[in-house]
Amino acid sequence: MEIDIVQQQFREKFGDAPSRVYASPGRVNLIGEHTDYNGSFVFPGAIDKGMVAVIRANGTKKVRAWSVDLQDHAGFTMDETDLPAASWARYIFGVCREIIKRGGSPGGFDTAFAGDVPLGAGMSSSAALESTYAYALNDMFSLGIDRMELARIGQSTEHNYVGVKCGIMDQFISLFGKKGNLIRLDTRNMEYKYFPFHPQGYRLVLLDTVVKHELASSAYNKRRESCERVARLVRDSGYPHVEFLRDVTMDMLLEVKDRTTKEDFMRAKYVVEETERVLVVSDALERDDYETVGRMMYLTHYGMRDLYEVSCEELDFLNDVAKACGVTGSRVMGGGFGGCTINLVKDHLYEGFLARAKEQFARKFGHQPKVYDVVIDDGARRIS
Ligand code: GLA
Repeated sequence: MEIDIVQQQFREKFGDAPSRVYASPGRVNLIGEHTDYNGSFVFPGAIDKGMVAVIRANGTKKVRAWSVDLQDHAGFTMDETDLPAASWARYIFGVCREIIKRGGSPGGFDTAFAGDVPLGAGMSSSAALESTYAYALNDMFSLGIDRMELARIGQSTEHNYVGVKCGIMDQFISLFGKKGNLIRLDTRNMEYKYFPFHPQGYRLVLLDTVVKHELASSAYNKRRESCERVARLVRDSGYPHVEFLRDVTMDMLLEVKDRTTKEDFMRAKYVVEETERVLVVSDALERDDYETVGRMMYLTHYGMRDLYEVSCEELDFLNDVAKACGVTGSRVMGGGFGGCTINLVKDHLYEGFLARAKEQFARKFGHQPKVYDVVIDDGARRIS
């Protein structure tokens, strides 16, 4: 990450006095997609790409922020009415507001930041930004907030200042990530377990379609509403213990099928099946059975394509190429509607797969997909 550039621009904007540097990562997710707002499991890992921020308390009540990537400035106080116009600045503003709502009192600060997580590629650039500032403000102003609450501060920022009713996966992993480990998180009770991930003979690689869908956030929120509607319906149909779709079995779902829309039923069916798949994958990982992991990844892709309907032509194309090349596992990763596929590839197939994916994708869509090798890294931290 280009820390030097961020530091240099910070000095140009805000002077030479001592400052601190903090960083937080983006993430991959092996399996468990759209399950985190259904009380179910996810399987993410932090990656060696994310956001870095240079920051210094300025002794006022104001925040002055500089986005190195966008070459854009924003200034705001931390009053609720002072919502910045620039959407990137709302993430920082939201983090400040959510800290204040929890009784914390961060002081004003000057900051510059940049990222090397591609925006909108399904690798959680926004959670990386939220976690960077939540972590930095907590540390710099000694607020005494624990990591879990910092993750919730990031999530509430999305809900209240960005308008995405996201789950907790991205913010959680950005704060709790650990080098060489994936984490299985149970989002019902936030219990988590580290899984060392060194698949011998395989590589994990992301192919970025570079497609971003404008309506992704409203479509995301609609998916969540469908899930909540079905969970409510099942609960009111004689299963009072049902809190989330996590608690719903396929038999229970079939009982209410006639009283849901076709669309809601499809959404819920995907979530019930995906919950089962995450458990199959965590068992398989215990015995280094990557063939089973890969099979589940394809099934997740088909579910996200046909039932949850969050894939797109470019992602399906890359998934088909992976299948044709004998790639062990491949699927759309993250919220969907564009972004990346995550691929589990045998070492000896890796080069051939990438060459074919690039060539065929470029022929069809006029540009190559971007390629990111996955390195599983640590969560939020102070760098200097
Ligand atoms: C986005 C959200 C997460 C999660 C994923 C889908 O990344 O921020 O909370 O719901 O989509 O699994």
